[in-house]
Amino acid sequence: MARSIESPAIEARELVKTYPGGRGKPRIHALDSVSFAAEPGSIFGLLGPNGAGKSTSVKILSTLSRPDSGGAIIAGIDVLKHPDRVRKTIGFVAQKAVTDPMDTGRENLVLAGRLQGMRGSDAKARATQLLERFSLADSGDRLVKTYSGGMARKLDVAIGLMHHPQVLFLDEPTTGLDPEARAEMWAELESMAKTEQMTVLLTTHYLEEADRLASQLAIVDHGRIVVTGSPDELKNGLRGDAVFVELAPETDLDAALRALSRVSALSEVLVDGRTLRGRADVGAVALPQVLGALDDANLGVASATVARPSLDDVYLKYTGHAFSVAGPSTSSWTTKENAS
Ligand SMILES: Nc1ncnc2c1ncn2[C@@H]1O[C@H](COP(=O)(O)OP(=O)(O)O)[C@@H](O)[C@H]1O
Ligand SMILES: [Mg+2]
Repeated sequence: MARSIESPAIEARELVKTYPGGRGKPRIHALDSVSFAAEPGSIFGLLGPNGAGKSTSVKILSTLSRPDSGGAIIAGIDVLKHPDRVRKTIGFVAQKAVTDPMDTGRENLVLAGRLQGMRGSDAKARATQLLERFSLADSGDRLVKTYSGGMARKLDVAIGLMHHPQVLFLDEPTTGLDPEARAEMWAELESMAKTEQMTVLLTTHYLEEADRLASQLAIVDHGRIVVTGSPDELKNGLRGDAVFVELAPETDLDAALRALSRVSALSEVLVDGRTLRGRADVGAVALPQVLGALDDANLGVASATVARPSLDDVYLKYTGHAFSVAGPSTSSWTTKENAS
């Protein structure tokens, strides 16, 4: 049931998509009845690890691919019945760049606008506006091959915006960028969302990115939506705190896990390298007990902290496994069966 009276800007209805699995192999179930709806004017985040089905969803919603079953509505238009009308309404920024490295940034923008049917003078004016908006004004007349990764990615986003789309699809806009360029892109996308009147569907495998940019989130895992809500709703829906203990070098990990298994206030203990993470109803109550148990066992502690639930915890709760993908902003927690 829709929460707002306005009809959603993006609606995916029970999308199913399979791909051939290769010779003798079963078909790959990329999407297994994916449904979600994004309110007009919002940034909707599709968060999930590699292979979850994010790009497949975006390709279907943007008319580049057809589902096996199910449907989608973009700005009131049926994607399967009227793909041409949908294409005029949307901007699409693919996971891989589409710019011509041997043209300037400005030339790439104007060409994209012309392909979308804009008049030359309109395309030029819009290109200038977008180069300024994305802090590319000084480099607009340089060849794209001289751009940094972050600049090239900003140009990709600007291209998607040329024809004033009502709905913009951004497939992993910051994957492959270094942390500095990623932070700059986040700031650009935040200000873009304020100035352009549109709905954005952003896919990402960065928890922090979803947390910071999305007003509504759907967490996708193995082709299924496991939970939706705002980042705050999802985090506040989890009871308790995370307790982190970093063991001193050379401390016996298994002995530490045995010691922590005796702390009744701590549950769901996970291990990542030398750091142990557990959950507690009240972190501040559990922490002294945790430190006491480790001290009793003569085990050294380098640091100990308590944190409110993160999207990492949300993901763990709803998928039953940790958000373990490569990337600087994510961790790879594993469960130690003997600890809990
Ligand atoms: N063209 C394709 N042929 C076969 N399998 C594909 C194809 N595209 C995607 N897949 C598979 O579908 C699943 C979902 O892929 P994708 O939507 O690209 O995930 P994500 O974008 O979340 O990383 C993965 O298992 C992937 O390997
Ligand atoms: Mg993808």
